[in-house]
Amino acid sequence: MATIRLGDTAPNFTAESSVGTINFYDYLGDSWGILFSHPADFTPVCTTELGTAAKFKDEFEQRNVKMIALSVDSAASHTEWIKDINEVQQTVVNFPIIADEDKSVSNLHGMIHPKADNNLTVRSVFIIAPDKTVKLILTYPASTGRNFYELLRVIDSLQLTAYHKVATPANWDKGQDVVVSPAIPTAEAKELFEKGVEEIKPYLRMTPDPLA
Ligand code: BEZ
Repeated sequence: MATIRLGDTAPNFTAESSVGTINFYDYLGDSWGILFSHPADFTPVCTTELGTAAKFKDEFEQRNVKMIALSVDSAASHTEWIKDINEVQQTVVNFPIIADEDKSVSNLHGMIHPKADNNLTVRSVFIIAPDKTVKLILTYPASTGRNFYELLRVIDSLQLTAYHKVATPANWDKGQDVVVSPAIPTAEAKELFEKGVEEIKPYLRMTPDPLA
């Protein structure tokens, strides 16, 4: 099983999908990317997830994020299942679903966990920056559908912390106060963050969200 770690370069691949043959890097272009696997087509939790992802497309687009899903089912199966998703979730699936029948992309990403199921992908999530580095990895079991609000929240954090010397605290949401990076001395932080810095402890300094 391949191991991809944070900071690794996301592997490129070419695969069949619900919209034809796709080269991953060409598809992403200069955007952020979210690659997420699900166990199988025509399954209930996956149907809610893919429908939810479709409904969130505007939110992801506003953040310059392109979505791409994956399972080990065929492109023909995806096409039939998308009709069901659109019907029952009252949406339009508007991103590709990779048809990884030979499991090559799944194995490249370690999306198959043999002790969970030898043949199906688990619910993996990879968030990839425009320079193709892997910024976030999540793994959920088949029995737990993902929270797409959390995926938006973490993208907000990744995009903020990529350009500002801050980190985001527990349960942070866009617009809320953030933590000054531990590497910055408080005196320097007070010059850097014009909205002010509150020193709660020498190692815990808060500042308003620089983008708020
Ligand atoms: C589901 O998507 O509902 C599902 C898929 C595989 C195992 C359990 C649930």
